[in-house]
Amino acid sequence: MSQSKTAPKKLFIKTYGCQMNVYDSERMVEALGGQGYVETQSPDDADMILLNTCHIREKAAEKVYSELGRYKHLKAERPDLKIGVAGCVAQAEGEEIIRRQPMVDLVVGPQSYHRLPEMEAKAGAGVKALDTDFPEEDKFEKLTSRPKAKRGPTAFLTVQEGCDKFCAFCVVPYTRGAEVSRPAGRVLSEARDLVERGVREITLLGQNVNAYHGHDKGLAGIIRDLAKIDGLERIRFTTSHPNDMDDALIAAHAEVEKLMPYLHLPVQAGSDKILKRMNRQHTAESYLKVVERLRAARPDLHLSGDFIVGFPEETEEDFQATLDLVEAVQYGSAFSFKYSERPGTPAAERPQVSEDEKDDRLQRLQALLGRQQRALQDAMVGREVGVLFEKPGRKPGQMGGKSDYLHAVHVAGEGLSVGDLRRVRIVESGANSLKGELL
Ligand code: 5AD
Ligand code: SF4
Repeated sequence: MSQSKTAPKKLFIKTYGCQMNVYDSERMVEALGGQGYVETQSPDDADMILLNTCHIREKAAEKVYSELGRYKHLKAERPDLKIGVAGCVAQAEGEEIIRRQPMVDLVVGPQSYHRLPEMEAKAGAGVKALDTDFPEEDKFEKLTSRPKAKRGPTAFLTVQEGCDKFCAFCVVPYTRGAEVSRPAGRVLSEARDLVERGVREITLLGQNVNAYHGHDKGLAGIIRDLAKIDGLERIRFTTSHPNDMDDALIAAHAEVEKLMPYLHLPVQAGSDKILKRMNRQHTAESYLKVVERLRAARPDLHLSGDFIVGFPEETEEDFQATLDLVEAVQYGSAFSFKYSERPGTPAAERPQVSEDEKDDRLQRLQALLGRQQRALQDAMVGREVGVLFEKPGRKPGQMGGKSDYLHAVHVAGEGLSVGDLRRVRIVESGANSLKGELL
């Protein structure tokens, strides 16, 4: 007698915030695969909805509550639908989430994802499940390994989590905990596995990735070992703190061909007074010195940064120092934010800058950064770059990919396939992307 197969359960997962959450979401999908779940793109037919949340700015947390509100009718129609909150809002708010939204079945902090399968079973039995511990064990080790299915040419790989820096505005040290590095052996075997499955570019992730200490030669050591893997063509890493940009890592930018010439190196502000109050533990000058050394190692390096405007007590003169620093660096891309008060962080206790001033400064900063970004993008015209093709372009016959410098590039390419890495001459600079021709 033939046995009827049970239909897979459907998991809808929505990811907010940083790339580390993107990586975590992938791993959670894999872990719940063991419970019979497959991913779906719509909450309407899901058996489980999981929000992988971000707590970095105030609006991010509020978004989670309003998103949960949108699922109320689904839960009313199908009471066995499981709803879970993961990520940094889960860590920070814990039980409060269930108090505010009693339909939530499980709340899981970023260090406890390996316990998701048990929690899912508990929720299935009608018991609310909450886990926001910082357990000793490595969650990635305990999560089931990635299945061997083929995948796209680029992948994230988390090597380090947590942060010990305690910038005065930031919740990360509280939500993600102290710095923990994954051992080099595990990182390398995961990388080899990814390459076997078709990955050609790996971005190493960590909240403070260049403080990585799972290899005896630090992040530079793991980069050099990764570069020896045949079939892996490109290596990137993010996000770095300027104080952890050591000599070995700077030298890697000169010597490791597979390490791409693009670096995200947040500075946050240009005024030493504000940097001190932010507890950044560096000055504008020491940041510029690091940039100078990096550019001496890799003259074509494109830099990207994060900026906060309107940090408590920031004056117009302080803000001007941020603009001066931006002028001095010339960024290839950047992310800028209005300071957002985070309860429990030291900066939240300080005198605040008005919303109007924050708006005005953000506009001025973004205008300057936008001009720089555009100028650097336009300067690519006529140059030859490597492009890794990731997906068909918008127009028929086109393929889209990323340059070594992380610019979006599209090419009219007969016979090009996803995963090809080719030399391309840039012929045009558009609003958000470059146009190239195959060489
Ligand atoms: N307000 C505004 N921006 C913040 N960031 C972190 N905390 C805050 C906050 N409280 C920004 C920083 C960091 C990026 C990930 O988010 O620029 O580098
Ligand atoms: Fe937050 Fe600062 Fe740590 Fe970055 S270095 S995660 S901004 S505390």
